[in-house]
Amino acid sequence: MKIFLDTANVGEIKEAAKLGFLDGVTTNPTLIAKEKRKFEDAIREICEVCAGPVSAECITERFEDLMPEARRLAKLASNVVVKIPLTREGLKAVRACSQEGIKVNVTLCFSANQALFAAKAGATFISPFIGRLDDAGHEGMQVIRDIVQIYRNYAFKTEVLTASIRHPLHVLEAAKAGSHVATLPFAVFEKVIAHPLTDAGVAKFLEDYRKIPR
Ligand code: G3P
Repeated sequence: MKIFLDTANVGEIKEAAKLGFLDGVTTNPTLIAKEKRKFEDAIREICEVCAGPVSAECITERFEDLMPEARRLAKLASNVVVKIPLTREGLKAVRACSQEGIKVNVTLCFSANQALFAAKAGATFISPFIGRLDDAGHEGMQVIRDIVQIYRNYAFKTEVLTASIRHPLHVLEAAKAGSHVATLPFAVFEKVIAHPLTDAGVAKFLEDYRKIPR
């Protein structure tokens, strides 16, 4: 499973990249607004730090507006993936982008049927928001399982990008379900690596090492 970071914070991206397996980054307008900097500047800098796919989200809604916006975002860097919401107008734009060779991450997906249509439109990635589904009283992870099964049934090339991840169990379940990608907020990225028993074990081994006669 590829690991993306769900952030627009360049410091966090640099920190995660040091581990050597940061596969990509997803952003959205909310995440970029938190950084209090220009949208294009943030995307360009993130693309320099991370060689993998970097999602940059469109904020227009009509097909006629989405297409010039998608073309403009795709030109910011060679690794930009344009993020387009899963609406009727959005799907038209996904189809047109895929015909033009622009990679698209279809976002704000909340059902397996929506994901089926996104794949038919030619999406590169589909982003089901599992945390928001859980918040609304649904089982977000079941949507991931259903999409993985549907994409396998019909050999779609669209990659399932599990998004709106809130805790390490989401990462575990996404991997078990066969999600191609999980995008993690930095706090979850840190939690996945850490385990209190690992820290306690390291401390104990160091303590005992000091007792070995030299
Ligand atoms: O990047 C999109 C997604 O991961 C948003 O997550 O926590 O705002 O539901 P959240």
